[in-house]
Amino acid sequence: MASADSSNVGSSTQANTAPSTNSTADAQQADATPTAAGRAGDAASEGEAETKIAVSNLNFWYGDDTHALQDITMDVKANRVTALIGPSGCGKSTLIRCFNRMNELIPNTTLEGRVHVNGQNIYQADPVAVRRHIGMVFQKPNPFPKTIYKNVIWGARINGYTGDEDALVERCLRQAALWDEVKDSLHGSAYNLSGGQQQRLCIARALAVEPDILLMDEPTSALDPVATGKFEDTISELRSEYTIVVVTHSMQQASRVSDETVFLYMGRLIEMGATEQVFTRPQKERTEAYVTGRFG
Ligand SMILES: Nc1ncnc2c1ncn2[C@@H]1O[C@H](COP(=O)(O)OP(=O)(O)OP(=O)(O)O)[C@@H](O)[C@H]1O
Ligand SMILES: [Mg+2]
Repeated sequence: MASADSSNVGSSTQANTAPSTNSTADAQQADATPTAAGRAGDAASEGEAETKIAVSNLNFWYGDDTHALQDITMDVKANRVTALIGPSGCGKSTLIRCFNRMNELIPNTTLEGRVHVNGQNIYQADPVAVRRHIGMVFQKPNPFPKTIYKNVIWGARINGYTGDEDALVERCLRQAALWDEVKDSLHGSAYNLSGGQQQRLCIARALAVEPDILLMDEPTSALDPVATGKFEDTISELRSEYTIVVVTHSMQQASRVSDETVFLYMGRLIEMGATEQVFTRPQKERTEAYVTGRFG
């Protein structure tokens, strides 16, 4: 069984590279020290965006041998779009899944380090509650086999939403830039939508539970250029209200939609900064090689 709170891997890799405390002790220590809250305060006092997700010394293993994330420390700023880029296998999906404890659903994995969201260590919180505040959109659109309307309202109902359902459905579909295309077929099957429409429906569904963070792992890899363009417009629209983290293989997409870019390579964070800087004035040679298409 996956356990992000226990340190059950005794590999030499871990002994060499992991923090000396185990994750449980680490988490307890984190609870006693207002690290993330302090950081958020620092950022605010610098006139910068508030920190939404604060990652400290994050390590992640699959089994005993695959040290997929190695000592990642980074902040995700509120109301910004942060792109995670890097070659296949560098750990982008693993990292984004650590932001809502999805990795715990994978057996035989170990996590050490800290992930704070809004100043709270999410590995000390109820995982269901954590995921409720953090929406996720996957690579392949995965609508439920239900109507468009029910897809959007489903999670909100489960959460006990008692407001005006019609109004919520319309608002979320508008936010996801899908309303005009589906307003006359709300009670038709979601499966009748195109791939791009289904992906925007998945965004609407994620928004309906009123998350404050949206995580997206290669959300446009199955879409054509027109659908991708619409999807990117949607992301830009949502930026003012949500904190968005998006994994992408497309350099063009990262530069079009994101404010901040994080470059990962072989499980390590090589560089992060304002997207414009990372793409035009990278500080590290490896980043430059990647963003200019020389490898990856
Ligand atoms: N479920 C799993 N079990 C074992 N190893 C895994 C698992 N998922 C990922 N890995 C390994 O962890 C490392 C990071 O994988 P991850 O999927 O996070 O990379 P990625 O950057 O998202 O790659 P891609 O761009 O191909 O999606 C890789 O070495 C991969 O083989
Ligand atoms: Mg991936």
